[in-house]
Amino acid sequence: MSESSAPSIASEVARAVAGLDVEPLREAYWEQGEFVHLERWLPPPLVARMVAEVERVRPGVNRSFIPRHKKGGSVGSWALAEQAPTILALYRAPALLTLLARLTGRALHPCPASDPHACALYFYTEPGDHIGFHFDTSYYRGARYTVLVGLIERSSSRLVCQLHTRDPARPPRELRLATEPGTVVIFNGDRLRHAITPLGAGEERVSLSLEYVTDSTMSPVKRFVSNMKDAIAYFGFRNVFGGRRRARAAQRLTPARRPARYTSRLSQ
Ligand SMILES: [Fe+2]
Repeated sequence: MSESSAPSIASEVARAVAGLDVEPLREAYWEQGEFVHLERWLPPPLVARMVAEVERVRPGVNRSFIPRHKKGGSVGSWALAEQAPTILALYRAPALLTLLARLTGRALHPCPASDPHACALYFYTEPGDHIGFHFDTSYYRGARYTVLVGLIERSSSRLVCQLHTRDPARPPRELRLATEPGTVVIFNGDRLRHAITPLGAGEERVSLSLEYVTDSTMSPVKRFVSNMKDAIAYFGFRNVFGGRRRARAAQRLTPARRPARYTSRLSQ
């Protein structure tokens, strides 16, 4: 599939969004402490195209192991920009951005092309693959929101979501979700504590993470810290600091509000 198919992906997403009753969703999002999930929401043909792209990028998976925190594989934005046009089109779909704005009450933007987490695939393929409890902390000046999309789910792993942990006025609540193909989870990264429980033998789980921010600028110090974390915990040093590939991908992954500082750095 070529990038010229992006408009048809955008139309498919627009149809899926049009089928939602957004107001009850918005109420649930806020009642649950800025978290909501849509079970098997994305249409199966769209999911099938993304799963085909999972197989295309699978040879480039970078595996990492951080004792007591995470074990698993990742493929970052730059590889997806080259090989996964459906995933890229979903990430930038105007109807999805509009839905997110209606749920969160804020204008959200895709992350800069220099961020390997902007959209990324996470592979849980070996026994014990997992990620411990964490927040999707923002290194940007703006708030960070995460959209998780289930693509392959043949596992006993669960996405464990702890609601209201940062709201002393609300009793904590825990949900354990199977991210089935097409299931979408939307949350404010600084509000939802979450984890993926360890994979069992002979199981597999692959999910897509889409990251959006209210302000996509970042201080140079935080950019460095973010890059180091990404290199060690997710994508490997060669991918994170490989300027040439980053620059190539930037031509394809151009968010609406890429700040000037990224434009000049990426064009070097
Ligand atoms: Fe996370």
